[in-house]
Amino acid sequence: MIIAVDGPAASGKGSIARALAAHYGLPHLDTGLLYRAVGLSVARAGGNADDPHDAVAACDFPESLLMDTELRNEASGALASRVSIHPQVRAALIQRQRDFAMQPGGAVLDGRDIGTVIAPGASAKLFVIASPEVRADRRLNEMHRNGMEADRDAIIADIRARDDRDMNRDHAPLKQAEGADLLDTSNLTIDAAVRQAISLVDAQLDRRSKE
Ligand code: C5P
Repeated sequence: MIIAVDGPAASGKGSIARALAAHYGLPHLDTGLLYRAVGLSVARAGGNADDPHDAVAACDFPESLLMDTELRNEASGALASRVSIHPQVRAALIQRQRDFAMQPGGAVLDGRDIGTVIAPGASAKLFVIASPEVRADRRLNEMHRNGMEADRDAIIADIRARDDRDMNRDHAPLKQAEGADLLDTSNLTIDAAVRQAISLVDAQLDRRSKE
């Protein structure tokens, strides 16, 4: 069984996808990490993330890069969003994601285009959202926990810019997939969001088993 979890940055989709994977005993792939790895590789090679040639050359990144903690920072997220616009980059990463999804027993994948492009036939699909303000506060709290300071308005602006790029690109834009349930986590604790996610997935699996 394949579970597709899509949504914008800091919507809670990553935590939800990890919890679903643990609940259903499935492996989990955070596909954003692949795009972050491409973005960081371009930057480290002195290339330009907006140049498709530089970005495609970086798709061959070493596996060990996926463990690099720098991938988790805001700068890598912004680089990822820039390289992910190029269709050649998306094409270079597609097979790896589909292979992960199709492994025996299934998997949980989270990203932007899992339910629309990577696994449109997924057994269950969620589209996780939250308001930009709530998402900015989550980012701020995370940064404070890591001893970093940041300006809330700058983070909100950053989130809006990334949403705009992800939702309005020509290839595999961020949008609710057909058949995906919407889960708004703005006013939910993570535990409550996970409980709702599990009941939505259970209901979708139940519906599918009767089709
Ligand atoms: O999910 P995360 O914030 O790590 O993703 C970073 C960026 O990678 C996103 O803003 C998006 O542009 C890109 N991405 C994508 N397709 C995916 C996952 C991530 O385009 N499946």
